[in-house]
Amino acid sequence: MKNVKNDTPLLSVKNLRVSFDTLSGGGVDGKQRGKIYALNGVNFDLYREETLAIVGESGSGKSQTSLAIMGILAKNANVSGEIMYHDKNLLSMTHEELNKIRGHGISMIFQDPMTSLNPYLRVSTQLTEVLTERGVSEDIARSKAIEILNSLSIPKAEKVIDNYPYQFSGGMRQRIMIAMSLMSDSEIIIADEPTTALDVTIQAQILDIVNKLKRDMKKAIIFITHDLGVVGEIADKIAVFYAGEIVEYGTRDEIFNSPKHPYTIGLLKSIPSMEQNSNERLFLIEGNPPLLKSEPISCSFKDRCPYAMDVCGNSIPKRQEISPTHAFSCFKYDKE
Ligand SMILES: Nc1ncnc2c1ncn2[C@@H]1O[C@H](COP(=O)(O)OP(=O)(O)O)[C@@H](O)[C@H]1O
Ligand SMILES: [Mg+2]
Repeated sequence: MKNVKNDTPLLSVKNLRVSFDTLSGGGVDGKQRGKIYALNGVNFDLYREETLAIVGESGSGKSQTSLAIMGILAKNANVSGEIMYHDKNLLSMTHEELNKIRGHGISMIFQDPMTSLNPYLRVSTQLTEVLTERGVSEDIARSKAIEILNSLSIPKAEKVIDNYPYQFSGGMRQRIMIAMSLMSDSEIIIADEPTTALDVTIQAQILDIVNKLKRDMKKAIIFITHDLGVVGEIADKIAVFYAGEIVEYGTRDEIFNSPKHPYTIGLLKSIPSMEQNSNERLFLIEGNPPLLKSEPISCSFKDRCPYAMDVCGNSIPKRQEISPTHAFSCFKYDKE
């Protein structure tokens, strides 16, 4: 998938597959083994100074995609495909090589800062660690941390930097997580549902900051969310995930103005609009996503799709490219 600017991607994910070995609880001894096919051939590119939004319902594989990139999938995971970063496949790197990239070239912001910040350590210690570990002096690391906190509009940064995480509000803690990802000058920042736990006003401030990271600090950002409403504020490109596959991919305008896949169309209809009457019911896609117990052999959306035809249950829809940046996988348009 080409960028409009036509340069080479910073990160290129090719045919990424992740399955998990599980004990399904079946069989005579209750220990029958089963697999969960969480990602079934995911492809996308990420370019410099660009925000790629990954959108999809809970369980669609958004987090597993980011964990695969960071090299921190669960122990029961099987992974294949390629994740190319600076001409190297992250999936075939050694532990040590990955450690250098994780938190340096690529860093991640999690949904709940309280689970990733250490409650017993001062914020200053946690922020400066990534630099002091690499031999940077305490003083230099501390002034850099203060500078970053200031740039994220944390009031009285030089004072509050010595506080503990619990002394900050949820929104401020999320900013500290963002600060942490900036300490190491990573090129790529992955934010997994960073605003989900926050109220609307604070959410807007964080989205503003994410936009600044891209615009002013030239970061490439992968922004994961289940909320297509949020995506309109920040995305350059959008990848719509469904059951471990990208069913549609495009620029923000392509996805918002000419969506093709029935799932994308359903998601767009589910965004509450400002003008909407509060007693007007939102369109919600009925039914549930598949259980991912086998690799897909047909369209994974067919059971919930208002346009499903026989062919949708018999074969996998091919990816159709309708512009250099817009692609989708659906049989609906084949005859049109
Ligand atoms: N360690 C694991 N073992 C088995 N299944 C898992 C494991 N981790 C995640 N899954 C499954 O993988 C699928 C994708 O999960 P995830 O990427 O976390 O979804 P989301 O889009 O909500 O972030 C889900 O069905 C989830 O239950
Ligand atoms: Mg998730």
